[in-house]
Parts: sequence; structure tokens; C-alpha cells
Amino acid sequence: MSTNVKTFDSSQEVANAFTARLIQVNEQAKQSGSTVTVCLSGGSTPKLFFKTLAADHGEVDWSRVHFFWGDERCVPAASDESNFGEADRLFLSQANIPDENVHAVNGTIDPELAAKEYAAEIQKIVKADGPDGLPRFDLMVLGMGDDGHTASIFPHQMQLLDSKNICDVATHPTSGQKRVTVTGQVIRNSAEICFLVTGANKADVLATILNRAEGHEAFPTSHFSQLDQTSFWLDQAAAAKL
Ligand code: 6PG
Repeated sequence: MSTNVKTFDSSQEVANAFTARLIQVNEQAKQSGSTVTVCLSGGSTPKLFFKTLAADHGEVDWSRVHFFWGDERCVPAASDESNFGEADRLFLSQANIPDENVHAVNGTIDPELAAKEYAAEIQKIVKADGPDGLPRFDLMVLGMGDDGHTASIFPHQMQLLDSKNICDVATHPTSGQKRVTVTGQVIRNSAEICFLVTGANKADVLATILNRAEGHEAFPTSHFSQLDQTSFWLDQAAAAKL
């Protein structure tokens, strides 16, 4: 099966295209009178996407969208390390989004407790649909590190791909930073999975994964790349070796 790969000239074009996808998801929710759940990624890639949303779509009524995070660093929201904090500073705080629609991980409490509390929040809001009543996010937005990690499922913690929990505590492989992450089964159960991957530093690992080259299984992203509901949104630099 060939993976759905969309390649754009620049990271700004990726941000523009994905912004259009999120606007479409929001419009579909409004037309159907439903709510949708969107799980955002962290790191630097989505910042351009958040800035584009805030700049071009300040008037949008987001009241039908519930925003979550696929992973969060165990730091205060005020930290520039905080995935929620960055999304809030760049987009959420400037948009028409009810506070009750924004579901952030509590980065200031014990990580294990934060993971348990976040799993409960997800189960409260995200519809259960799938094996064992797993929560099914309507849209799962993911990035990919240059080590092939996604969310905070790193190559040295592959067990998080098959954890029976909804959220687990992960550890960054070099900094040792504690993080809360959704697990592989929650990602796999999402209705739509979109990887936003930009930059030349991702090209080698991405080519290994998308070409199913030797050793691809060692990269957590590889375990989601073949799913029917997965798409990759790339700039030319990240796609250079495909
Ligand atoms: C995080 C992210 C992580 C990110 C990748 C890519 O908390 O860092 O959720 O999975 O998506 O590390 O990060 P960049 O976009 O910064 O390259």
C-alpha cells in the first residue's frame, strides 16, 4: 500500500495547506452540528501552522472543536518548552475558542498523575469508538523527530507503541525530560492521522520509513505510516530523499 504523501514547495506552503484542512474539518462540524476533537503536536514544526491560523483565520468560530495535545513536556505553560503554551501564545489566545474546548496536560504536577488525569480528560470528551472503547480522535496531528519519534514515543521506549494505557509518561532520550504522551493504540485508533514533517534534517529517516527500507521498524513513526488514515504533509527539504 502506498502512503498518502503530499509534498509542498516550502514549510509555509505546508502550513497553508494544513490550515485549509483544519478549516475544512471545522466547517464540516458546523454543517453537521457536531463537535470534533483535534489532537495537536508540539515542537517547532506546528508553530508556523499556528501563526498562519492566527493571521489568516482570526474570525473563525472554533466552538465546535476540542483541542488536545498528543504529548506535553512536564513544564509550566509559561515555559517556551510547553507545547500547550506555544500553541496558546501563537494561536489559541487570539482565536474564538471557548476555554472549555482547550484541554491541556497539567505540566506542573507529578508526571504519572498528569498522565492519569489527562487520560481521564480524553475519555471524558473524545468519543469512544473502536476496540475496548478506545477514544477516537477525529484528527491526530503529529510531527516526527529526526530520530523518527512521534508524539513522545521515542525509539528507546518502543513499548509505548503497545501500551494498554491511553497516556503514559515518556522520557526524552538525551535531556531526560519527563513528558506525557498518548500511546500507540490511541494514535492508531484516530479517524485521521496527519504527519507534518519539514526540514532537511528529517529527509533521511523519512525516506527509510516511507520506502520501508531496512531498519525502518526501529522508528516509532514507521508504525503509523502504513495506516489507511495516515497522510504525510512534507516540504521539499523533508521529501528530498523519497
Ligand atoms: C514534541 C513533539 C514531537 C515533535 C517532533 C518534531 O513535543 O516535541 O510533539 O513529537 O513533533 O519532535 O519536532 P520539531 O517539529 O521541533 O522538529
